[in-house]
Amino acid sequence: MQVILRQLEDCIIRRAEPSDLIPVMEINLKTLPEHYSDYFYESLLAEIPEAFIIAEIHGKHVGYVMCKTEYGFSNFKKLGFVKKGHVVSIAVLEEFRKKGIGKALVEESTNGVKLKKCDEFYLEVRCSNTEAVRLYEKLGFVIKQQLNVYYRDGEDAYLMAIEFDK
Ligand code: ACO
Ligand code: ZN
Repeated sequence: MQVILRQLEDCIIRRAEPSDLIPVMEINLKTLPEHYSDYFYESLLAEIPEAFIIAEIHGKHVGYVMCKTEYGFSNFKKLGFVKKGHVVSIAVLEEFRKKGIGKALVEESTNGVKLKKCDEFYLEVRCSNTEAVRLYEKLGFVIKQQLNVYYRDGEDAYLMAIEFDK
């Protein structure tokens, strides 16, 4: 059953289903240098469908966000062990950017990881990716660390995180 989360003009924001995975992989190939195995997409959808979200316009897939959950040390509390949501990947096709779709995807994935009782939400982003960093900052994420030579091409990442209220 399709779970529609919201609509932005003619763009539907909804939870992903198995039949969305090939179009998601196609968007990923067009927009980002980090790619994953088919199995990895399937495993994320199986693990946390609440935070695997699609943007669709007239039946065309234009964006996605996919996440996982982890237990680990808090990005906020000294010595805290917490449940964390992790944005694995998000992208919107270039011709559909700057319409609020990216923001809606991050907000809906935030709701999804909260449903899974995560305490925090985090991601890594290229330090040069100012569009994405600005989007995350607007949504309350803060830069917590710079990860040296995080990407295969040698670029650094910012680790950005947000802590949820109890
Ligand atoms: N009219 C004009 N501008 C608008 C409108 C509108 N109706 N709605 C939103 N905007 C502006 C926002 O204010 C924002 O502006 P700002 O950058 O000056 O703050 C800008 O458009 C982007 O916001 P959104 O529209 O919500 O985001 P978008 O749909 O463009 O997606 C994203 C952002 C996902 C980062 C996109 O640029 C992208 O796909 N980039 C390539 C892939 C990528 O880098 N992904 C992130 C990697 S990191 C990771 O995956 C964890
Ligand atoms: Zn990551």
